[in-house]
Amino acid sequence: MIMMNICPKCEKVILSDYKFCPRCGYSIYGKKGAEEPAHAVPAAAPVAAGEDTSKVLQFFNVAQTLTTADDIDLLLKKIGSAVEEILGAERSSIMLLDDTGENLYFKTATGEDILKKLKIPVGMGVAGWIAQNKKPDIVNDPYNDERFSPDTDKKTGFKTRSIVGAPMMVGDELVGIVEAINKTDGEFTKDDMNTLMGFAGLAAVSIVNTKLKTDQKNFFSNMLDFLIIGTEALSSPEPTKSGHAWEIAKYVPHIGRELGFDRDKIHLIHNAALMHDIGFLGLANPELIGLRIDRELDSNAKYRLHPIIGSEIVKGIKMMHDMGPYILYHHQFKDGSGFPENLPLDQITPEIEVISILEQYCIRKDKRALDPKKFSPAVYRAFDKVIH
Ligand SMILES: [Fe+2]
Ligand SMILES: [Fe+2]
Repeated sequence: MIMMNICPKCEKVILSDYKFCPRCGYSIYGKKGAEEPAHAVPAAAPVAAGEDTSKVLQFFNVAQTLTTADDIDLLLKKIGSAVEEILGAERSSIMLLDDTGENLYFKTATGEDILKKLKIPVGMGVAGWIAQNKKPDIVNDPYNDERFSPDTDKKTGFKTRSIVGAPMMVGDELVGIVEAINKTDGEFTKDDMNTLMGFAGLAAVSIVNTKLKTDQKNFFSNMLDFLIIGTEALSSPEPTKSGHAWEIAKYVPHIGRELGFDRDKIHLIHNAALMHDIGFLGLANPELIGLRIDRELDSNAKYRLHPIIGSEIVKGIKMMHDMGPYILYHHQFKDGSGFPENLPLDQITPEIEVISILEQYCIRKDKRALDPKKFSPAVYRAFDKVIH
């Protein structure tokens, strides 16, 4: 069933997924609850059946950090420590395949630093055998195993008594291997090997995720440039052609620091500042974003819609949807003045006000034209200190 609303201003029908009247431009935004979708948490690889609960819990503990860790080295170290603790091993190492595909190098390893400089050819030693065959293995008496190379022990002075290793695979492709060395109590078992395979899977996924994240970040910053250039090419009552978005973004770190915001928050406000007028892009091409806006709508009514349209554009993009409230509220003020109509004023945070105060300043180019009463005292003070 299609739900409909009636515009309180012009009394025409508005379809339910519209946040404004496409005929007169009146905003009904605050009259409808905008539900944000919850973030999905990626599922972790299962641990082999038969493991006790503490192993499983620890596994999931590491798996959870996967969703938050940006620092791959830290994450792999955590995986290494968890492997040592759960398997009861003296040491662990995570080796990655280099770009040539011919050598393994140590990414993390407990023990001597010299290890980090060593390269192990695929096919040589137990690690090289695991990499070549893409199979896990247990070697409980390495000095009597023909694959074992005592070279590393000679270089480090460490005595290897037992090894369990597993390949890190993404699909059919080898990423590297994980090893646990010297079981402190008895010998490595098949159970240990299965657990290690679970961790090897986690390590592989985290390595690939990190690479994807880096690619995504590059893509994201390129896309930002593209969108800003696109927005600036449009005519609008704001001085969008003169680097307006960049000018606002330039002041954000200074005001953010005055307000005591942390780096992540300043980064988000900075990006939101770059995107704040993206609604003009949507207004110029409404059909591209599935909107039908009345051709007769006057330019002032259209102008008042740009925050709503901008926030709707970013809402569906995971990497941008945190910017939504900044874009939606960038012309709305604490004292109730501004637009669009019907926004709940209690959601105006100091973070959002950083953009709205800079928007006013950069449009008017004159600090004296701003009314301090429209902003929180702390935000106005920070602005006043930064802008001379
Ligand atoms: Fe603007
Ligand atoms: Fe604007």
